[in-house]
Amino acid sequence: MELIDGKKIAAEIKQELADKVEELKSQGKKVPHLVAVLVGNDPASETYVASKVKSCKEVGFKSTEMRYSSDITEEQLLEVVDKLNRDEDVDGYIVQLPLPGHISEERILLAIDPDKDVDGFHPFNVGKMVTGLPTYLPATPAGIVELLTRYRIETRGKHCVVIGRSNIVGTPMAVLMSRKDEHADCTVTICHSRTRNIQEITRQADILIVALGKPHFVTAEMVKEGAVVVDVGIHRVPSDKTKSGFRLIGDVDFEQVAPKCSYITPVPGGVGPMTIVSLLQNTLKAAQ
Ligand code: GUN
Repeated sequence: MELIDGKKIAAEIKQELADKVEELKSQGKKVPHLVAVLVGNDPASETYVASKVKSCKEVGFKSTEMRYSSDITEEQLLEVVDKLNRDEDVDGYIVQLPLPGHISEERILLAIDPDKDVDGFHPFNVGKMVTGLPTYLPATPAGIVELLTRYRIETRGKHCVVIGRSNIVGTPMAVLMSRKDEHADCTVTICHSRTRNIQEITRQADILIVALGKPHFVTAEMVKEGAVVVDVGIHRVPSDKTKSGFRLIGDVDFEQVAPKCSYITPVPGGVGPMTIVSLLQNTLKAAQ
């Protein structure tokens, strides 16, 4: 079993991005500028946005965090989006999800200028991804493809099973893994909450990508010997073994499953760091 070290690969890519920023500067060009819009104070969203801003600093990008209270109206948030669309200094921006219940995520995402949509969530960019046109790829699925590529994991003709069908991870992941591409070309099956006999399907997976958001959902019986397992979940659970009183676990029961795998991503330090570098890569693309 080999661990897929997302932290290490993310650090390599950050170095590549930092070199690129130096090159831009030496050519007298502007450095990429990412804006993150955060509404309310969901603790997970706060952590994600803080990491995104910190990573921008590490590679030399300009970043701005814009915070609004959870009682901002949809109209007010649409005005924020409109301003960001027109601000020439902003190369790309994200509106962190989820948004409070009174705001339509669909309306907000539709209002984002697709050229600045570095999350790749605008339906125009989703359509481009599905049809294979160049666009911003959603950060988590793109980061996973990058991990498989850099670890030279063979994907061609393999059976990839994706658990989860969210717009952010499961659905775009399935699209990317089925593309005609040397780092994809898989036969893909999507499983979700209505899937019957899920274990029968997951046991057929050469590559199992788990993104359903349930702690330790995937157990050893669900995994084929020699499979590649990618865990997108991240959950904070109480623990009496750490100073902080909690630890992070994934959607996969790592201790049970890891011995059966050829490759597996740990939580933390697997997929998470890759999500952020993909966003940075999209921001560089937006600036160019
Ligand atoms: N919420 C969870 N993941 C993401 C992400 O990648 N982008 C945004 N904007 N919100 C998220």
